Amino acid sequence: VFAHIVRAPEDPILGVTVAYNKDPSPVKLNLGVGAYRTEEGKPLVLNVVRQAEQQLVNDRSRVKEYLPIVGLAEYNKLSAKLILGADSPAIQENRVTTVQCLSGTGSLRVGGEFLARHYHQLTIYIPLPTWGNHPKVFTLAGLSVKTYRYYDPATRGLDFQGLLEDLGSAPSGAIVLLHACAHNPTGVDPTIQQWEQIRQLMRSKALLPFFDSAYQGFASGSLDADAQPVRMFVADGGECLVAQSYAKNMGLYGERVGALSIVCKSADVASRVESQLKLVIRPMYSSPPIHGASIVATILKDRNLYTEWTIELKAMADRIISMRQQLFDALRARGTPGDWSHIIKQIGMFTFTGLNSEQVAFMTRQYHVYMTSDGRISMAGLSSRTVPHLADAIHAAVTS
Ligand code: LMR
Repeated sequence: VFAHIVRAPEDPILGVTVAYNKDPSPVKLNLGVGAYRTEEGKPLVLNVVRQAEQQLVNDRSRVKEYLPIVGLAEYNKLSAKLILGADSPAIQENRVTTVQCLSGTGSLRVGGEFLARHYHQLTIYIPLPTWGNHPKVFTLAGLSVKTYRYYDPATRGLDFQGLLEDLGSAPSGAIVLLHACAHNPTGVDPTIQQWEQIRQLMRSKALLPFFDSAYQGFASGSLDADAQPVRMFVADGGECLVAQSYAKNMGLYGERVGALSIVCKSADVASRVESQLKLVIRPMYSSPPIHGASIVATILKDRNLYTEWTIELKAMADRIISMRQQLFDALRARGTPGDWSHIIKQIGMFTFTGLNSEQVAFMTRQYHVYMTSDGRISMAGLSSRTVPHLADAIHAAVTS
């Protein structure tokens, strides 16, 4: 009965790792998936995560019972505080409902399904380009996906005029997906002044913001600075949704730990929204896993662990920034044709190089450099040792 099934293509991002794993070359380099690597090219488990896990293991009173449908209560509170700010009036007024979800993807999916069931507008605008999974997540959640202009290939920067025009002509009430910081895949973010203009435009048209916050702390190294766009929208008293992930900023990729917060107009609305979120979650996966959320809660509630986390996070962000400089310098030293200044201007985990799919294929074939075909490279996968190899590959790709 399954004989007719055709083979599906690999995922455009995760499939890069599948191809990489099959390559026997000793010089192969995986710059596909956005996953942090050390200078030695190894995955990193943060020291604070090890400490938190030790505490959890030592605590014999901990059991493995089911969590409630909405997850670990303490974790949800701490997550809302982390993104909205400890002094957020929305939190103090109990207008925020937060549910623990399966990392950023799961949070987007639960939020999308909630909106598809209960919100009056089914159209969601996503930036062009955006993370490849966004359109799939929202389409399967039951929303209708449209795009707004975001990136200008000519300047390798923000197409702010195009963004304002497209959001300006969106139907009233439409949902708008916004990358809270460190836009994936472009590494191009609006300035704070531009965010303010976006906020005014969206509020004047009653567009509903849905933030995807996957990189808090990774863009600037500061958790507060990276949360500022979200906080600007919450400060005006309006509604919004926020999907959070701890994959990158705590290195908890495989623990699948994230949260969806919905900021409402009143505590009463928030509690009714939460009751409906439970109806979305229960038939989907019943309740979320306990371990990752316990690690996060342990770190966020302990002053010392929290401080240590911010230091480790800043070190990761700084290492990525230094990779940008090193790659830029290496291309300049080779006299590689083109203006590569966007490598140091873009922020966060990724550089959107401007290399086309043929050039990427060439680099993979000839240099065993693996990256997504849209020309995105994960700067977090680079090290001082591998920068020269990547620079050689880019140089050959643009000059051959
Ligand atoms: C990425 O864009 O590489 C990450 O967000 C990982 C993923 O799940 O795609």
